[in-house]
Amino acid sequence: MAILKIARMGHPVLLQKAQPVTDPADPGIAHLVADMLETMHDAGGVGLAAPQVHVSQRVLVYRVPPARAGTSEVPEGDQVLINPRLEPIGEEMELGWEGCLSIPGLRGVIPRYVSVRYSGLQRDGTPVIGEAHGFHARVLQHETDHLDGILYPMRMTDFRLFGFDEELSRFAVPEARKE
Ligand code: NI
Repeated sequence: MAILKIARMGHPVLLQKAQPVTDPADPGIAHLVADMLETMHDAGGVGLAAPQVHVSQRVLVYRVPPARAGTSEVPEGDQVLINPRLEPIGEEMELGWEGCLSIPGLRGVIPRYVSVRYSGLQRDGTPVIGEAHGFHARVLQHETDHLDGILYPMRMTDFRLFGFDEELSRFAVPEARKE
């Protein structure tokens, strides 16, 4: 296992559409997943997509900290999705703060679907299907966007709600406290 270098906004790999994984049983994929999980934990993130570690393949890892789960049921521990697909459930969207390991020090408010249906393969290659709500749905939308070359600022609708973490905490922007 190894901690991988994280690409920052401006690196072209973050704007590419990532390729589907053709052989989920490839040991190279298991290795990549293990390294991505280690990298995500080392960086203190809740999600990481393969393009963020310079690998343009459709793989993402994430976790939903229990404190962020709210009232909805969430999978426990580290999650892996290979070739994920998302589909909104309904049209309802909500605003929420997001940060990104590829855009360190900043965060912004982004509209996301409240609920999504997701599917993909787990790291052992078995299919998974589920529904995600709230923070869980937000993380999935953020990470899946990475696989399509989309970074959160490209989804922003109000640039007044975009700033450096340090400043946002100093001035206690009300929305920043919702996190
Ligand atoms: Ni990100």
